[in-house]
Amino acid sequence: MAAGKGTRMKSARPKVLHTLAGRSLLQHVLDAVAGVGDAASRHTVVITGHGAELVEAACAGQGLSFARQMPQLGTGHAVQQAVPALQAGHETTLVLNGDVPLIRAATAQALAAASAGGALALLTIELPDPFGYGRIVRSGDGAVRAIVEQKDASPEQRAIREVYTGMMAAPTALLSRWVMALRNENAQKEYYLTDVVAMAVAEGVPVVAVAAPDETEVLGVNSPHQLADLERRHQKRVANALMDGGVRLADPARLDVRGTLTCGADVEIDVGCVFEGTVSIGDGARIGAHCVLRDTTIAAGAVIHPFTHIEGAEVGAGALVGPYARLRPGAVLGAEVHIGNFVEVKNSTLAAGAKANHLAYLGDATVGARVNYGAGSITANYDGAHKHRTTIGDDVHVGSNCVLIAPVTLGAGATIGGGSTISKDAPAGQLTVARARQTTIPGWTRPKKGTPAR
Ligand code: UD1
Ligand code: CA
Repeated sequence: MAAGKGTRMKSARPKVLHTLAGRSLLQHVLDAVAGVGDAASRHTVVITGHGAELVEAACAGQGLSFARQMPQLGTGHAVQQAVPALQAGHETTLVLNGDVPLIRAATAQALAAASAGGALALLTIELPDPFGYGRIVRSGDGAVRAIVEQKDASPEQRAIREVYTGMMAAPTALLSRWVMALRNENAQKEYYLTDVVAMAVAEGVPVVAVAAPDETEVLGVNSPHQLADLERRHQKRVANALMDGGVRLADPARLDVRGTLTCGADVEIDVGCVFEGTVSIGDGARIGAHCVLRDTTIAAGAVIHPFTHIEGAEVGAGALVGPYARLRPGAVLGAEVHIGNFVEVKNSTLAAGAKANHLAYLGDATVGARVNYGAGSITANYDGAHKHRTTIGDDVHVGSNCVLIAPVTLGAGATIGGGSTISKDAPAGQLTVARARQTTIPGWTRPKKGTPAR
């Protein structure tokens, strides 16, 4: 169910498209669903309404069906819209909420399994403060009799702390029939999905309550506060899993993983780092404070100093990067490469031992082993229409403040004098200087204040 507006988010964006750990709330639920049953026999229907086009576009290409609910007349009405899409071949229907993102696949699977024998299975939890939730009403023998919504509950029922989490599983044929028979004679004039419980009881269909393993899995997002709370709960789960694997986090409360982070042995991560997409960090590597790494591989023993931004790059074994470095897509650093402060590297390979330690730009370059690339030097790789390559041979020494106008090749062992603008290939093993010669003007005097201008 993903039709709700989410008024309390106070946002133009449909609620289920707000993101948690870099993925939409709805995508979290869909990813959990992908772990239930097997792909061949599973059919997922997303019920959309508010912002339907946006929601459907956001999860296109995943083999999903969509059912539109306009207007939104309650959770039972929502499921009614999906009934035509529920097929006879699909034995069990699992109903999940698009705004309850941290449900685990194993829990959803257990709920579906509890219904498999023909029962109606409800995911429930005991809350210290059950306000607002549907209460699980049981008879004297403990059997579930009904779910009563907050607004319809008697004072005695309001004292019940066992609540319905909004997730259920039921035999498809029964659920379809039940939801089509729902009435909206209640305090909110809504079609309550929860009324199917009393229908099941009346027909003698067993109703089972499955206890949710923990509160985090069943919490919904209705406000920015709840979204932030769930984000931290999720990040805590991720941090705990990393620490279980031996990763040393300076502070598990100051880590954000928005994707998949894989770490080897003896990895250390300082505070305030953000990992996006797929990042892997090799044995013994260290990540300094406040780094942002996206879709990147860091090899063993590399050190990333603070405030470094890395995206789509590979960092070789024992390399040193930062502080304040920027590696952009296609940056491939060999072993023991040094990239220092305020150095930007894009679509360039640097062979083992190459160094660019200060204030430099390497774009579309192939840099040989042990090259020393001076402070302030840049590749002029773009002519306004096309990108061109710069090739720098092994053991080249590029002085400070050089401009290498691509396409250009510097032969192995070449030395480029500081301040050169290199627009032609430089031969191997020789000194090339391309700058105006220094001259001194004899008898020149500096203009003085209070004398006529010359
Ligand atoms: C519902 C349950 C309540 C349960 C609670 C758990 C009903 C009648 N009540 O409460 O017992 O304790 O969830 O959070 O089911 N939605 C639609 N279309 C609608 C209405 C809702 O798609 O017309 C979606 C919402 O976007 C949301 C979900 O259904 O994802 C739950 O709706 P919400 O209004 O939050 O739940 P309640 O009705 O308050
Ligand atoms: Ca409601």
